[in-house]
Amino acid sequence: MTLDSETFRALVTEASLSPSVHNTQPTRWRLGPDGRVQVLEDESRRLPVGDPEGRDLNVSHGSAVEGFCLAAGRRGLVVDVGHDGVHVAELTVRLGGVSDPLAAFLTQRRTYRGKFEGGAVAHAAMARFEQSEDLIVAQDPDHVAELARLYDEAGLRWFRNVPYRAELVSWMRLSRRHPSWSLDGLNAEAMEMSGIEATGAGLVLRPGVFETLDRIGLAGALVAEAAVVRSASAVALFHRPANEAPFDTGRRFHRVWLSFTQAGLSAAPMAVLADDTKARESLQADFGIGGERRLITAFRLGVAPARDLAAKPRLGLDALIV
Ligand SMILES: Cc1cc2nc3c(=O)[nH]c(=O)nc-3n(C[C@H](O)[C@H](O)[C@H](O)COP(=O)(O)O)c2cc1C
Repeated sequence: MTLDSETFRALVTEASLSPSVHNTQPTRWRLGPDGRVQVLEDESRRLPVGDPEGRDLNVSHGSAVEGFCLAAGRRGLVVDVGHDGVHVAELTVRLGGVSDPLAAFLTQRRTYRGKFEGGAVAHAAMARFEQSEDLIVAQDPDHVAELARLYDEAGLRWFRNVPYRAELVSWMRLSRRHPSWSLDGLNAEAMEMSGIEATGAGLVLRPGVFETLDRIGLAGALVAEAAVVRSASAVALFHRPANEAPFDTGRRFHRVWLSFTQAGLSAAPMAVLADDTKARESLQADFGIGGERRLITAFRLGVAPARDLAAKPRLGLDALIV
């Protein structure tokens, strides 16, 4: 079959809701004359400091392609994902297959970075993940508190790296006046910051200011997130085969996150626990994750308070379809 342009646009719209590192949305889509879809990369959206090897970039591509496949399944279409060595992926769409129940949660999943509530409800929802082959779920409040401490410790090490901090800040949109507030990156709303907190964060993270605050022992407290992490009902350590291609990891990453949404749980990844060598090694040892596996991220999980949420910042189809 030949994929028509209207369906293609609808599939890209849904795929664009997929998670991506810092909300960089690096994945681009092209419908070829033969009806196949080429998946491409916008190289200007790489993170040379935070992600020099492109792991998170390719996890993001894999997530987006998984979103595309799930959206296609809802329309009675199956997607064969191929790799031609040139593009990120090449997709062939055909009729058939059954819709995956996770597809219904594509439009609902989002990163929730605020405090959680509803401990008992969340713990009940957690049961289904305990047998998972790539998740270790820590629910003991002492374990969660220890992970929170480790998270702040690792986070501070990374914040002290000036180029890393500058790159992260370049993806933050701390004011609604920022031209990309509703388009990409991490806006204050998505980071659960009030206007005052966002202005404060902009100041604290400035070169020189952060270092001065750090010298007097204040920087750590100002960027600490341990209280939010401790409000989580659980932290799920997501680990995959050490030799798995990051693109494939990304497909699974998205599915795991959608299954949290399906279970009524909200989540936020804490990637620094996996990216920081010291934290990753200590977690792999403490939780018995052998060398043949790699900790990809740690999700904090819980029930988010019910409230109306703003639309997620996303690029339009004119930018995504090339
Ligand atoms: C590889 C990867 C790593 C991520 N790491 C973090 C993280 O450490 N902290 C965080 O708050 N969000 C993290 N995220 C979530 C993204 O910031 C989020 O998906 C993006 O901002 C889009 O928002 P949405 O998930 O609400 O659609 C990560 C996402 C990906 C794909």
